[in-house]
Amino acid sequence: MENNTAPERKKRVLSLIQPTAVPTLGNHLGAFKNWQSMSEDYDCLFGVADLHAITVRQEPAALRKQSTEMYALLLSLGLDPDKSIVFMQSHVPQHAQLCWLLNCYTQFGEASRMTQFKEKSQKHADNINLGLFAYPTLMAADILLYQSDFVPVGADQKQHLELTRNIAERFNGVHGKCFTVPEPFIGKAGARVMSLQDPTSKMSKSDPNPKASVSLLDTPEQIMKKFKSAVTDSEACVRYADGKDGINNLMSIYSCCTGKSYEEIENEFAGKGYGDFKVAVAESVIEELRPLQENYKRFINDTAYLNECMAKGAEKASRLAQRTLDKCMKKIGFKQI
Ligand code: TYM
Repeated sequence: MENNTAPERKKRVLSLIQPTAVPTLGNHLGAFKNWQSMSEDYDCLFGVADLHAITVRQEPAALRKQSTEMYALLLSLGLDPDKSIVFMQSHVPQHAQLCWLLNCYTQFGEASRMTQFKEKSQKHADNINLGLFAYPTLMAADILLYQSDFVPVGADQKQHLELTRNIAERFNGVHGKCFTVPEPFIGKAGARVMSLQDPTSKMSKSDPNPKASVSLLDTPEQIMKKFKSAVTDSEACVRYADGKDGINNLMSIYSCCTGKSYEEIENEFAGKGYGDFKVAVAESVIEELRPLQENYKRFINDTAYLNECMAKGAEKASRLAQRTLDKCMKKIGFKQI
């Protein structure tokens, strides 16, 4: 018998990463790892947020280089560029176009409350530009352009996601349904990987202390050394508890890389010291990153392949984005020709 029911549209997932320096283990466990697993079951778009990067001053040659490297890293995750859409944000002009429209549906007060804006304007006090302030509306445009259902991010992006939902609901409320209201997808473990030197602050690409963060392209020797010097506590007992920030962070990392629960980890290291535990965590991270690093070595020097994938990604993303942009402009009342 013929089956006439149209196949249900797969849920759509979108996430982007800024091309500022080599990403860290935090980016990997908070974001990349979820992207990788979601690409099997969802209709996915992943991109390099190069437009976001210029909210702080960038050296042109470095921006170009880092954007290409970040794109190669995305392909290295094992994302299939024929199945998922892997794109560079600046190659899809609709992002900036929708951002302007959404700026007019975002309140000054709500944008002023964004923690990241407050932090970055303190850090770059000599360049508090309008782009830095409008950063979350550009992020909302990234998400809403594609009618995304889920947005896998680390916990630090939750506030931007909430703002995106508010903007979508406000626009839909004024003009009728135009945008899918997205859900954040924040993994349990790995949502906030902390610095190895100060486990009360987030592991960050821009940390000046090289021992604080693990880069995705660190060698096995560097990774081992960094974990061996990770800050812990004096209790010498591997257990997850309040006040044990260093050990909690290492347990979360180990859990993400091995799939073991905290209880299993506590049993595995019962009666053992932190030295053994740190080596085991480092080994699990080395294994976790090995395939990605091998792929990266292949892709980064293959300019023709990278360009081909970028062109394909831009073309597919732009086609989808234009549909939403047309709909949105029509609803606002722009004259169409
Ligand atoms: P970015 O480039 O700072 O980080 C990329 C992703 O990595 C996550 N992340 C972490 N997760 C756990 N622990 C950490 N220490 C850690 N550090 C970073 C971030 O939460 C993020 O998911 N504004 C975004 C980029 C962006 C975006 C978007 C994301 C632009 N448009 C649309 C989603 C959807 C940012 O600056 O992420």
